[in-house]
Amino acid sequence: MIYFDNNATTPIDERVFDAMLPFMKTMYGNPSSVHRLGRIAKSAVETAREHVAALVDAEPSQVIFTSGGTEANNLAINSAFGKLAISAVEHSSIFEPAKRFDFDVIPVNRDGLIESKTIAELIEKRPDFVSIMLANNETGVIQPIAEIAAQLNERGIIIHTDAVQAMGKIPVSFKQLGVQMMSFSSHKIYGAKGGGALIVDKSVSISPLLLGGGQEQNYRSGTENVAAIVGFGKAAELAKAELDARQTRMLSLRTMLENKLAQFSKVTIFAQNAPRLPNTVLFGVDGIDGELILLKLDQKGICLSSGSACASGASEPSPVLIAMGISPEKAQTAIRVSLSHQNTPAEVLEFIELITPFGA
Ligand SMILES: Cc1ncc(COP(=O)(O)O)c(C=O)c1O
Repeated sequence: MIYFDNNATTPIDERVFDAMLPFMKTMYGNPSSVHRLGRIAKSAVETAREHVAALVDAEPSQVIFTSGGTEANNLAINSAFGKLAISAVEHSSIFEPAKRFDFDVIPVNRDGLIESKTIAELIEKRPDFVSIMLANNETGVIQPIAEIAAQLNERGIIIHTDAVQAMGKIPVSFKQLGVQMMSFSSHKIYGAKGGGALIVDKSVSISPLLLGGGQEQNYRSGTENVAAIVGFGKAAELAKAELDARQTRMLSLRTMLENKLAQFSKVTIFAQNAPRLPNTVLFGVDGIDGELILLKLDQKGICLSSGSACASGASEPSPVLIAMGISPEKAQTAIRVSLSHQNTPAEVLEFIELITPFGA
């Protein structure tokens, strides 16, 4: 089997699994308990908090653990006030909660990027809260969040960024980006599903989604998912130590794949000219439905997605590509390869061989 769907989820790193296991077996204490088992769990949660904060250059006290990226995004949007604006390429976990508000949509250009003049126009509309993702899950396009945040901060506008796909793939600094909130997810960085975090600048007020025992500084009540949190911390620690090597490896595989694809006249790589994650290639073969290629390759043991995983199976073209001004027919051809540092050049070559019969 070849696994090229790492933006949907990543396999758990063996070292992460080993770190988690004791917290499901012998060290099962509740972090709120005063006795020794409780203290062990509490201390493990706090160590994980330090690792997550270190990976994204934030303070541990700014980390609120959640059940994943979706909850982190919902917590951020739930804390929005006044006029809300979100980008046209956000994940459904931003779009859906935003529908509770009257919100503006910030357009992207043909490369999937938000331009500086678009932000200047947005500011004219006087929004109070803006959410723009750092890296897109389908195209891999990286937005210039630091510049955008500087423009917005100057006017006192709050900005949240969904950095779920950026974490562990490119350097991310909460301090340098200048945003007030940032979302992350553990299972995109070789941790377990069901773990994530919202990083929050405490000058901003947060409206909790869950009320109860007051865990996570009252921002997220509920007994902590200790094993998942410990795994997230371990995954963050490893990602920080190995970030350079992982980036280099993914980029060399991506370059190899793109060079091979460039030899096929009917292939388009979407957003090719924009700054992109080192692991993501969204492409299409003219006239061939991406879903069809996906299903045929699945029979050969290759795992990939056509656009976002949640949109897979639905026949609607990707809203992200439509927002970029791509025609629905062309958008329908999209197939996403999302690589991992664990992939090999041999896997890329096998993939190329298998898609060649599709007239690539
Ligand atoms: C950009 C982005 N945001 C948020 C999420 C949701 O994260 P989770 O699966 O942890 O809820 C995803 C997952 O696909 C994503 O790609």
